[in-house]
Amino acid sequence: MQDEVERGVHPEPDWAALRARFPVFENKTYINSCSYGALAVEVQAAVQRYLQDRLEQGCDWNYWVERNESARGAMARLLGAKPDEIAVTTSASAGINAIASALRFDEGRRKIVISDYEFPTDAQIWYAQELRGAEVVRVPEKDGYIPAESFADAIDEQTKIVAVAQVCFRNGARLDIPAIAKLARERGALMMVDGYQGFGTMPFDVRAANVDFAVGGCVKYLLGTAGVGFLYARDELIESLVPTVTGWFAQEDIFAMDTTRYNPAHSARRFEAGTPPVVNIYAAIAGLDIVDEVGLPAIQRRIGGLTDQIKTRAREAGYTVVTPTDPGRHGAMIAIRSHDAPALVARLAEQDIVTSDRDNNLRVSPHFYNNEQDIERLFEVLHGQRDLLA
Ligand SMILES: Cc1ncc(COP(=O)(O)O)c(C=O)c1O
Repeated sequence: MQDEVERGVHPEPDWAALRARFPVFENKTYINSCSYGALAVEVQAAVQRYLQDRLEQGCDWNYWVERNESARGAMARLLGAKPDEIAVTTSASAGINAIASALRFDEGRRKIVISDYEFPTDAQIWYAQELRGAEVVRVPEKDGYIPAESFADAIDEQTKIVAVAQVCFRNGARLDIPAIAKLARERGALMMVDGYQGFGTMPFDVRAANVDFAVGGCVKYLLGTAGVGFLYARDELIESLVPTVTGWFAQEDIFAMDTTRYNPAHSARRFEAGTPPVVNIYAAIAGLDIVDEVGLPAIQRRIGGLTDQIKTRAREAGYTVVTPTDPGRHGAMIAIRSHDAPALVARLAEQDIVTSDRDNNLRVSPHFYNNEQDIERLFEVLHGQRDLLA
């Protein structure tokens, strides 16, 4: 790839021109994409176009259904999947719930393997399945990471599904998903990845990673907005899974309006539910288009340079980075230990630097629209707040 960049086959994107499409940088040093992506002018225009369409057309269901299909296509391209393997959902939770509702935990395989790195919604949904006969087994963090080998003892012939986050929302650690998926496959278990903190920051191919299911959403690095997400389900599995969490948009013929039976779609659309989140879909398509335009290999390189800079500056200053230092073991977010992270976030906000916190760690999460000056400015201000840094 580096050779190709040098030969001009893949010219490096014009990062400054791309940044200019995110007006928040006129007023803020925004480094908080793990929480919410920055708003692009195209995404803003897409939401305005939705409002304009409503003013001009009133109601245009045919076009809205077409937009839903466009979103499905863009989500499929993002993951290397087929459109029929994608459910357009209203959240990651909705996708996980649809799959969980289709699983039975009374056929010799009762175990659900998760880890210490799950986002609350994932863990809560899987623990809820204990009411349906499941048993949740949790793989613990050891010395600041969870290597794939740690899953080896937990995944066995009783395991129904392994469901783990690709990148942890608390400390930015990135798990070796293909290696964990291999263990799941060898032991006959299903494998789900929650890529919410990873999708949009690096290439991810569901086939290469060998996962059965993947969930994510469009709030963060995919540059869309809240209220829209997606679920990938491997096509060979779809028809064997009959969700009991469902709705009219999950039926084979949505507009049959059949009130006499349940007839789920043959495709992954069977994991959808009610009316699609139309306005959010306009935003999602615009955001996914930008990610596609910039390209995930370039985005990964750009973020890698910025996260390296953050780790270096933190190390030089003697701050404690709780994210694993190996670039293969973290995503786009670097977490720095604080004595009082909410206070630190508030002090940075007073200086127009937008970050976030979890577990008394400051979370710094650059995207391709950030630059080296953002990181230098952050550390200049942090150096004045040493009392809050561990
Ligand atoms: C890893 C991960 N999963 C899921 C979510 C959110 O899920 P939902 O779309 O159901 O709100 C987040 C949001 O922060 C996340 O970081």
